[in-house]
Amino acid sequence: MSTVQILLIFLLIAPQVLSNPAFTNISIDDSSLDPLTGARITYGYLNQVTTNGTGWHVGQNCSTCLARPDPSQVFGGTWHDTSTEVVGRQIPFASVSFTGKHKLSKSFNALKQQFLGVAIYVMGIIVSSAPETNRSLNNSRIFFQVDGADEASFMFNASLGNEVTYSYNTTLFAKEDLSNGLHNVTMMCGTGDPSTDSVCLLDRFIYT
Ligand SMILES: *[C@@H]1O[C@H](CO)[C@@H](O)[C@H](O)[C@H]1NC(C)=O
Ligand SMILES: *[C@@H]1O[C@H](CO)[C@@H](O)[C@H](O)[C@H]1NC(C)=O
Ligand SMILES: *[C@@H]1O[C@H](CO)[C@@H](O)[C@H](O)[C@H]1NC(C)=O
Ligand SMILES: *[C@@H]1O[C@H](CO)[C@@H](O)[C@H](O)[C@H]1NC(C)=O
Ligand SMILES: *[C@@H]1O[C@H](CO)[C@@H](O)[C@H](O)[C@H]1NC(C)=O
Ligand SMILES: *[C@@H]1O[C@H](CO)[C@@H](O)[C@H](O)[C@H]1NC(C)=O
Ligand SMILES: *[C@@H]1O[C@H](CO)[C@@H](O)[C@H](O)[C@H]1NC(C)=O
Ligand SMILES: *[C@@H]1O[C@H](CO)[C@@H](O)[C@H](O)[C@H]1NC(C)=O
Repeated sequence: MSTVQILLIFLLIAPQVLSNPAFTNISIDDSSLDPLTGARITYGYLNQVTTNGTGWHVGQNCSTCLARPDPSQVFGGTWHDTSTEVVGRQIPFASVSFTGKHKLSKSFNALKQQFLGVAIYVMGIIVSSAPETNRSLNNSRIFFQVDGADEASFMFNASLGNEVTYSYNTTLFAKEDLSNGLHNVTMMCGTGDPSTDSVCLLDRFIYT
């Protein structure tokens, strides 16, 4: 098939695909189970056997956390907080498995599969500005893996401001070309070097 033919077919099926109810987003809140599968997010330190939540704080309940976002602006009113100031040389991670599955109609089935994949998004809160500080509040350094392979990173430096301000519903990571089926995504905070600060605020995972 020529490129032009492929493009024409894509233009023909694209509107149907976009309106296909099978392509809805499923949110896994940081504090809840996957509403479809019951899968749970695991929180812990890399290279440690116990993944029972160490390294992370339940953000909305945390009185010692530097970052104090407004719970009413956050999905479900909850988030998870970690920062290098708290974890030192450890690297905290949050990980979840998800089964993206597009239920495709019989016609166009093969073609759609060629063009469209399952998607995963990681949504968080970032500190967008902060007063001068020597604590880990003004930088986000977040790394992502899908199915155990390194993917993109999210790096952000807060600007200097009079007060701490936040950006909500920020897409920290997006990957849209995964095959149907079981995948996992892992978010890691910081580099393991305590002199390189990072704050990481996880709001939810979204998959299609
Ligand atoms: C799912 O959510 C992501 C992130 O907010 C967005 O970019 C995408 O367009 C959404 N997809 C659908 C099908 O709603
Ligand atoms: C997690 O496990 C570690 C090591 O066993 C333990 O020190 C810590 O108290 C546990 N944390 C929670 C929240 O259960
Ligand atoms: C955390 O806060 C929520 C309300 O946002 C509350 O329902 C829950 O009991 C708290 N959990 C802990 C462990 O304190
Ligand atoms: C972020 O998204 C949640 C869920 O959609 C919404 O309730 C909240 O108002 C949004 N926050 C902002 C600042 O847009
Ligand atoms: C940002 O934080 C680092 C340490 O976390 C600090 O060295 C630096 O001065 C801070 N920058 C500002 C503008 O506060
Ligand atoms: C930040 O600066 C204050 C005041 O100079 C100092 O007491 C504190 O130890 C510093 N904190 C860090 C993490 O360097
Ligand atoms: C994530 O996927 C990779 C590759 O399939 C696998 O090696 C790893 O065990 C999975 N991790 C979890 C937590 O399921
Ligand atoms: C953030 O600041 C550090 C140190 O000043 C710099 O090396 C890095 O490139 C900056 N990152 C971004 C995303 O601007």
